[in-house]
Amino acid sequence: MAMSQRQITVIKTVVFILCLLPLARLIGFAVLDQLGANPLEFITRNTGDWTLYFLCATLAVTPIRKISGWSWLLRLRRMLGLYAFFYASLHFLTFLWFDHFFDLAEMWADVLKRPFITVGFLGFAGLLPLALTSTNGMIKRLGGKRWQLLHRLIYLIVPAGVLHYYWMKAGKHDLSQPLMFAVLVGVLLLMRMWWRWSASRSELS
Ligand code: HEM
Repeated sequence: MAMSQRQITVIKTVVFILCLLPLARLIGFAVLDQLGANPLEFITRNTGDWTLYFLCATLAVTPIRKISGWSWLLRLRRMLGLYAFFYASLHFLTFLWFDHFFDLAEMWADVLKRPFITVGFLGFAGLLPLALTSTNGMIKRLGGKRWQLLHRLIYLIVPAGVLHYYWMKAGKHDLSQPLMFAVLVGVLLLMRMWWRWSASRSELS
């Protein structure tokens, strides 16, 4: 399905607004005092969930594009990735603020002490260079090949996010949701590996 530039602009605007809805909902809940008995936990968990959803959506763009033939989907990938970074930043900020009251030394000790926080932190640290190099200018400056190589970090970041979730829930003996995400991310990554392998085989023959 081919799209005109105008149609793509409309779709991008709609998606941009939709991606802000989780934040708007959170703000609405806060204003209406509907964040539950532990508001800080609610915000940390909610922003963590949305980081993972956006990371999965970003990773799903290429497989869905290849299967459906909708090449215009690629035009949404950068926005989805940046929204993942945006919600991860909110998630990290709520942790830094509410768990440690901006005490960086104390936060760092926590990052080193609790393995699920260590992995989450690594995932967030990995997202930072991707967000910083997401502009057209940076793509040009780095060159397509180097930019692509750097952005393959996403293949480590998303599993790190899933492991972070898994470890957090393992302490609570509730693994059904993290396992669901592990399967989803596993399938998305395996599809890529399969396509790459088939492409290299057909190049050889
Ligand atoms: C790629 C980055 C990250 C992803 C995808 C992610 C995802 C998640 C998810 C899905 C949850 C569980 C939400 C739920 O229970 O429904 C969570 C919880 C949490 N995450 Fe993250 N996270 C990331 C980075 C971080 C970072 C950088 C930190 C702090 C350094 C952090 C600290 C926490 C904490 C404290 C909780 C709540 C634990 C609890 O309530 O017991 N996360 N995260």
